[in-house]
Amino acid sequence: MAIHSIADADVAGKRVLVRVDFNVPLKDGVVGDDSRIRASIPTIELILDKGGSVVLVSHLGRPKGKINEAMRIAPAGRRLEELLGRPVTVVDDVTGPHAREKAAALQPGEVLLLENVRFDPREEANDPSLAKELAGLADVYVNDAFGAAHRAHASTAGVAGLLPSYIGLLMLDELDHLGKLTASPDHPFVAALGGAKVTDKVGVINELMTRVDALLLGGGIANTFALASGQPIGASLADRDFAPQAKEILERAASQGIAIHLPVDVVADTSIDGPGEIADAGSVGDDQSIFDIGPETVEAYGKVLKEAKTIFWNGPMGVFEKPAFAKGTLGVADAIAASDSYSVVGGGDSLAAIEQSGVGARIDHLSTGGGASLEFLEGRVLPGVAALDRKE
Ligand code: 3PG
Repeated sequence: MAIHSIADADVAGKRVLVRVDFNVPLKDGVVGDDSRIRASIPTIELILDKGGSVVLVSHLGRPKGKINEAMRIAPAGRRLEELLGRPVTVVDDVTGPHAREKAAALQPGEVLLLENVRFDPREEANDPSLAKELAGLADVYVNDAFGAAHRAHASTAGVAGLLPSYIGLLMLDELDHLGKLTASPDHPFVAALGGAKVTDKVGVINELMTRVDALLLGGGIANTFALASGQPIGASLADRDFAPQAKEILERAASQGIAIHLPVDVVADTSIDGPGEIADAGSVGDDQSIFDIGPETVEAYGKVLKEAKTIFWNGPMGVFEKPAFAKGTLGVADAIAASDSYSVVGGGDSLAAIEQSGVGARIDHLSTGGGASLEFLEGRVLPGVAALDRKE
């Protein structure tokens, strides 16, 4: 692929449109976890240091093409301003008169942030008219939004063909780290997968089965596989229609010598607000739901992770926002941090658990992409990356 790094571009005196992923959690108008904003700073500073100016564009949430006051981008702009230590002008439109006026007046070293691009219905439709308007705001385009690289939208894909286009430093770093998992990972390679829905992860499970030595399952995914293997799961969250396919995956894994580990014990309750009780995996009551993996499972998964040379983790092991059901997820976070493996963690909830455990520095790569990292591992072409290929 003929993809050029922004590190090699001459942007002195140029306005650079940078697609970032500022899809960050907001609470009462303040950014919670700001890691995606922090991760975008090297590219922004590089452009400013080279004498360029920056026009940032991002989505935030899923406003479905309409203005949504709770999803305005301004709080992310305020946080960026603090982190950069220089002013960030935030406009309340995407390509409207305010955006055009401020972009036209940008001086080298200045930063402009456009309004949430998904307020415009043309963004997700990858409408060429929006791509053209975005391109009209700048001289050069950079995609540094790894978290949104699996979306073929106007600001992630369409605009790339209209300006000299470059890949950003964060995107390069993500592809480099995740690429190590697909190129030649050291074995044993262990993947821990959790989260609510199997259907979100089935592609990656199938693909990982060609590479990993063991899969550790938690959350709704584990419940579905437990059901497929004939265990009672009570009223637990599971993709019941998927159970036959899960059974087929279990059989395939057995024949290929891949260990799919399911919880041996769980924390269950009749209510998500309850204290939870530890139960053997096979003895969950009809009226109970599984909300976490149990302590024996944490220990067993810890042993597998300790032996691993490569680890990928995506998705919580339980309802970890509730302290009563957080131990499994936090235990997996700690075990990954304690291992000597090359470790990569992706997905908002897993990253939050790493943050909560305070072990981030001991993980080799914390990916800013949830869905994007899964699609990359599935071997799919990421449209946001493919669009940067100049095919010279
Ligand atoms: C994410 O949070 O995974 C990215 O920002 C992409 O968001 P999306 O799933 O709404 O496209």
